[in-house]
Amino acid sequence: MCGIVGYIGHREAYPIIIKGLQRLEYRGYDSAGVALFDKQGIHLCKTKGKVAELATKCSADLNTQAVMGIGHTRWATHGEPNDINSHPHLSNSGDLVIIHNGIIENYETLKIELENRGYNFTSDTDTEVLVNLIEEVQKQEKVKLGKAVQVALSQAVGAYAIAIYDRKKPNEIVVARLGSPLAVGIGDNEFFIASDASPFIEYTKSAIYLEDGETAVIRIGKEIKVRKIKNDSIVKPYVQELQMNLDQIEKGGFDHFMLKEIYEQPEAIRDTYRGRMLPEKGIIRMAGVDDHLSKFLNARRIIVVACGTSWHAGLVAEYIFEDLARIPVEVEYASEFRYRNPVINKNDVIIAISQSGETADTMAAINLAKENGAFVFGVCNVVGSSISRASDAGAYTHAGPEIGVASTKAFTTQITVLSLIALKLGKEKGSISISDFNMYLQELELIPDKIEKSLQINEHILKVADFYKNAKNCLYLGRGYNFPVALEGALKLKEISYIHAEGYPAAEMKHGPIALIDEEMPVVVIATRKGHYDKVVSNVQEIKSRKGKIIAIVTDGDQQVSKIADHVISIPDTFEAFTPLLTTIPLQLLSYHIAVMLGKNVDQPRNLAKSVTVE
Ligand code: AGP
Ligand code: GLU
Repeated sequence: MCGIVGYIGHREAYPIIIKGLQRLEYRGYDSAGVALFDKQGIHLCKTKGKVAELATKCSADLNTQAVMGIGHTRWATHGEPNDINSHPHLSNSGDLVIIHNGIIENYETLKIELENRGYNFTSDTDTEVLVNLIEEVQKQEKVKLGKAVQVALSQAVGAYAIAIYDRKKPNEIVVARLGSPLAVGIGDNEFFIASDASPFIEYTKSAIYLEDGETAVIRIGKEIKVRKIKNDSIVKPYVQELQMNLDQIEKGGFDHFMLKEIYEQPEAIRDTYRGRMLPEKGIIRMAGVDDHLSKFLNARRIIVVACGTSWHAGLVAEYIFEDLARIPVEVEYASEFRYRNPVINKNDVIIAISQSGETADTMAAINLAKENGAFVFGVCNVVGSSISRASDAGAYTHAGPEIGVASTKAFTTQITVLSLIALKLGKEKGSISISDFNMYLQELELIPDKIEKSLQINEHILKVADFYKNAKNCLYLGRGYNFPVALEGALKLKEISYIHAEGYPAAEMKHGPIALIDEEMPVVVIATRKGHYDKVVSNVQEIKSRKGKIIAIVTDGDQQVSKIADHVISIPDTFEAFTPLLTTIPLQLLSYHIAVMLGKNVDQPRNLAKSVTVE
């Protein structure tokens, strides 16, 4: 995720762009930049850091009243956050300048081809490859910018929303999108370009939202021409009159960032496996693992260090790594690990999981592991974060910025990354057959659609939430892969509704917690068909016989637990190893709706911080 903004009209472009970038900062920022276009050419200013730092730099560096320009807040995917990797990016000739939201998966192949044709690159980004590919197409095909963009994007694989300018054609900006949003605001003899309407809603409510696979040439005084990238067919754009206000736009029309991020999970998981998992070729490609494969294959054990939700993702990893890759895994609270004088062996592999990449306890655990010679692999969501930089290697979750303090899409994308690693190692070690490996890849590719289907039960969960919003305590039970999900579901409820909740292995009930069960105690039981179902049925019956109120998460078509439970939430079937990616969805929604009904501050719950950078 990131933010793109553009303007072409009669007003001074710079203030419109800068304010627009500030409006888009919630989409992610680790760096930002502006390019303004006037008769003198292209005026570029960009920097690592927030938009405020860009504004300071621009006020010194830029001196133009240009009425055209583009701007970008970056959420890095390729190339750490620094001035050079910031957008906009110029082509080698300096004629073209681009801003880009998304990931060009095949950028390495394209980069090699362009280098062989004499192109040089100053940044580490995929975006700089794209702008030079467009330049090369212009040269080879002798076509205008709009056509060159179409031809080049037909060669690019990945996701993008781009705006590009050619100083040889100074009165137009070309835009295109696939997988990342792009809106065009239509004013009175002026046009606005943005990732969403927040940068231009105060100037105009008329907007076109490009569809995937569309490109448009934007010229003053001309109708916007929208075409299909693939076949150049003309598209009649649908101009809509926006009804949302600024606050609603930033939340994508959702009431809270947390709900927006729950619904972003299908796309976040696709972005996370995009370019890494190729089911049609039967391969998983992850540089951070490929370049250190022997470390993993010869590891005496894997030690996961993490906190909170990331620790729960680590527990899921323990099940999947031992189940599929037969590698011993220990999961440690980073805050305990750092102080208990643990035995760390130099052929241990440490996997540090952190959404923010800044959690102090996890950072300290990494330092301790490195002091003992262990190899550290980071799984972070923020490119260039402290933990990612301190790790010997790593793999980013491409969840995009997670604004809500309660972690949701980070959890499911962390499990996605960890599943890819476990599957890759399982295949390398021969602990899973090639045919099973391929079946897992095909199923993982279906998970985003299955999550989308799971999200359709939102209305039903609203009703369940209304039943239990005044509960004083709640138990969450799960077995196997879903024991960590029970812990995660309990944490979600605790941290945003302030209701005490506890996750437990379902079989552990009879070793104490069953004493808590009475008609006041709601018990959430994860009872999917895959995963010790018959045993969970017995646990549900034990609870029922003690008048506990049962909220059961079951697999579509369930015939047994559904007959016993007080409330049944049904989700699609999947492989046992992937059940956490689906069972967590109703638990996220349940905690969200209860917290909203209780009038809690869902996105910023009391006492909590999004990143715990202190002990
Ligand atoms: C989860 O909803 C909480 N926000 C919290 O437990 C969080 O997971 C924990 O602080 C770890 O954060 P990190 O993933 O950024 O390291
Ligand atoms: N992939 C591009 C980069 O890493 C764009 C990232 C974004 O969407 O901000 O620079």
